[in-house]
Amino acid sequence: MNKHLIAPSILSADFSKLQSEIEMINNSDADWFHIDIMDGVFVPNISFGTPVMKAISKYAKKLLDVHLMIVDPERYIEHFVNFGSDIITVHFEACNDLSLVIKKIKKFKVKVGVAINPDTEISVLSNHIKNIDMVCLMGVFPGFSGQKFIEKTIHRCKELSELIKDKNSTCIIEIDGGVDSENAKILLENGAKVLVAGSHVFKSENPLKTISKLKSIGN
Ligand code: DX5
Ligand code: ZN
Repeated sequence: MNKHLIAPSILSADFSKLQSEIEMINNSDADWFHIDIMDGVFVPNISFGTPVMKAISKYAKKLLDVHLMIVDPERYIEHFVNFGSDIITVHFEACNDLSLVIKKIKKFKVKVGVAINPDTEISVLSNHIKNIDMVCLMGVFPGFSGQKFIEKTIHRCKELSELIKDKNSTCIIEIDGGVDSENAKILLENGAKVLVAGSHVFKSENPLKTISKLKSIGN
């Protein structure tokens, strides 16, 4: 099995010391930075925008995984590309024409992710799975960090992994929301490749150790 990846979610960081939180991730076993952009329309919360994104991209030394929880995300793709995003993930539920949005992201030569909410059928991705690099399978309803993991995500992860195999796709699965050291192993066993972790990392006593622990699962 190829090693899984860990993507701490900056949303749970202490923004009064953002630079040192970013340095902590730089010096950790984490693989990516997961960056949550919320518009207060698609989800009932506003996270942060351009100035914070600028600060993150200035200090971050790892791949930037940008999760857009905004309506009509095609309006902002170029904007986030200019901040050095490596992967741009849009929500299936937020796009009028997902194929067009996928094309638009690809035009900028960044990786394309599509996120789906816990109540969206996996089968909606059937026609897109060959054209995308990653599915972000939500383990909670998007909007806030620190929510309880929805258990049926494990079964959905397996279903998605079967769909990917059936369609001969190279797409990988990212799990976002409610991930911790308790559920990480079973998610990986069911086909997950990237684990996003927000509160589990940043609210722990020793975030560096927590990241290492998540990274070493399965060793
Ligand atoms: C939820 C965000 C997640 C969140 C994860 O809407 O997309 O990335 O920050 O935080 P935890 O791991 O605390 O659920
Ligand atoms: Zn996210």
